[in-house]
Amino acid sequence: MASPRLIHAVETGALDPASSARALLLEPAADAAFDAFGTHDLTAQQNFKPSYDALEAQGVTVVTHATDPADLVHVTVPRSRDLARGLIAQAARLAPQGRVIVDGAKTDGIDSLLREVKARVSIDAQLSKAHGRIFWFTPGDAFADWALPDPAAVEGGWITQPGVFSADGPDPGSQALVAALPKALKGKGADLGGGWGFLTAHLLDLPEVTHVDLVEADRRALTCAERNVTDPRAALHWADATTWGQARSLDFVVMNPPFHTSRTPDASLGQAFIRAAARLLKPKGQLVMVANRHLPYETTLAAHFAQHAELGGDTRFKILHAASPNATGAAPRRKRR
Ligand SMILES: C[S@@+](CC[C@H](N)C(=O)[O-])C[C@H]1O[C@@H](n2cnc3c(N)ncnc32)[C@H](O)[C@@H]1O
Repeated sequence: MASPRLIHAVETGALDPASSARALLLEPAADAAFDAFGTHDLTAQQNFKPSYDALEAQGVTVVTHATDPADLVHVTVPRSRDLARGLIAQAARLAPQGRVIVDGAKTDGIDSLLREVKARVSIDAQLSKAHGRIFWFTPGDAFADWALPDPAAVEGGWITQPGVFSADGPDPGSQALVAALPKALKGKGADLGGGWGFLTAHLLDLPEVTHVDLVEADRRALTCAERNVTDPRAALHWADATTWGQARSLDFVVMNPPFHTSRTPDASLGQAFIRAAARLLKPKGQLVMVANRHLPYETTLAAHFAQHAELGGDTRFKILHAASPNATGAAPRRKRR
């Protein structure tokens, strides 16, 4: 959603981003308020593939890692505190004497971020709007120590980076899924939303698995996966799993699908992943997935597969298995009465 705070700040005359010659937007929403930045040299940095593609389709210059100096940098605050700090450090590095605008929702911690920034530099102005806040300042060299750490080994030797899903080590849901994986999985499969590669690495331990496509939208997570998964039977794809791949081409899909949009639980993401799995699987293909127990996936599984069942789980997670996707991967049509 275009930032209502940025629009408000521009409409009230508090902020005039269009007066800056070189503007950079760090991780903006696909429909960011680009008009506010005028017709100058505008670049967006975006690491989430669906948003990257949507920005590019609008004619915006998009990169995954911006390095050119700018006069103005707009930071969309992400959920991860480490990543938010890293983006502010990057903004400060690229526009030390320019203007850095930080824009985020209260639920993403914008208020505590403002307190932390204020402890380092003086703020030019701030506005509250739409359950969030926008503030701006000249950063100088006050944020170098906030730079996002490079990917590094955590528990178990896995390479991860702050800001990616389950950055501290394997996710408990994914661990439960690995423990329940049918040992007879074989042939060619995919790990949709594969993150930094935990599930793919375990799939490649199964003796009859010949190939795994790890499909992940977060470029930073995929960069970690490239180091965790070096088996030649794996292919890593920076792609939107809901549209990736060739229909009816896979023997199995394994996944721990995303279940949040920002901080809000969102079952529609997992449901879109189930539809993608049904489309990708061969007629006898099978899906194995883990989900938080409260997420309502069974109706979608029933609509897209001839069989589905719970393989196991506990009070937090359920491991779901589905087989024989419908011919089109689409929901069956209701019969006319
Ligand atoms: C719950 S995490 C699981 C990550 C990994 N499989 C694991 O077990 O640790 C879901 C992953 O899906 C990714 N994701 C979200 N939306 C996506 C999309 N449209 N296409 C591909 N990946 C996506 C997220 O970046 C995240 O890494």
